[in-house]
Amino acid sequence: MSRSIGLNETLTDYLRSMNPEEHPALKRCREDTQERGDARMQISPEQGAFMAFLAGLSDAKVAVEVGVFTGYSAMAVAMAMKHRHGEQARLYALDRDPGLIALAEGYWADGDVDDVIQPIIGDARRTLSELAAEGLAESVDFMFVDADKTGYGDYYAAALTLLRPGGIVLFDNVLWGGSVADPAKTDADTEALRALAKRVRDDDRVDQVFTAIGDGLLIAMKR
Ligand SMILES: C[S@@+](CC[C@H](N)C(=O)[O-])C[C@H]1O[C@@H](n2cnc3c(N)ncnc32)[C@H](O)[C@@H]1O
Repeated sequence: MSRSIGLNETLTDYLRSMNPEEHPALKRCREDTQERGDARMQISPEQGAFMAFLAGLSDAKVAVEVGVFTGYSAMAVAMAMKHRHGEQARLYALDRDPGLIALAEGYWADGDVDDVIQPIIGDARRTLSELAAEGLAESVDFMFVDADKTGYGDYYAAALTLLRPGGIVLFDNVLWGGSVADPAKTDADTEALRALAKRVRDDDRVDQVFTAIGDGLLIAMKR
């Protein structure tokens, strides 16, 4: 049976060299984060390029990110949104850590997307329900979820409220380094990711695809 190939370092370098050139602000954010020893938390440049492409494809003008960290993924998506919609684009960037948001804001200014990214500090569950109550329900074009894995079920429910029909939500780390397919792994994060994958697969309110991009990227489109 044909299947996706694994990527060694040489092939990863080739793949990166064939993608659009990484913006200098994205590169700085990635390299600084690597120096902090936190690179594992951040999406890869090729995943950033893929997500930026998807944001363009879905003509995203309003987006929500759950889990900002040092700001790489939000910046990659916001650049694509601003390219199409200028200052009208809006990406709500949710994280509970004010120190990380402050760090991310420096990179966003560097990448000239600080005017289209609105950071919101606090627990994402609460922020998402506030956004829905404030009139964002049924109006979000693009959503990226990359925070606490045990929250993914709640974030999926929030996505179904916030997304417009045709809007998409992306969940990161759904392969969880392979743990999801290992029956011996029964920790809360792994179980939450398994539950999400089944729930999305069996939900007739969405079309979905489970991809092996990065650590696994699950994409669902609201019907
Ligand atoms: C894996 S990192 C996000 C990486 C980021 N998307 C990137 O590519 O650079 C996860 C982030 O989620 C945040 N987070 C975790 N649980 C959260 C919650 N319940 N509410 C808000 N933020 C949360 C953490 O503070 C952390 O910055």
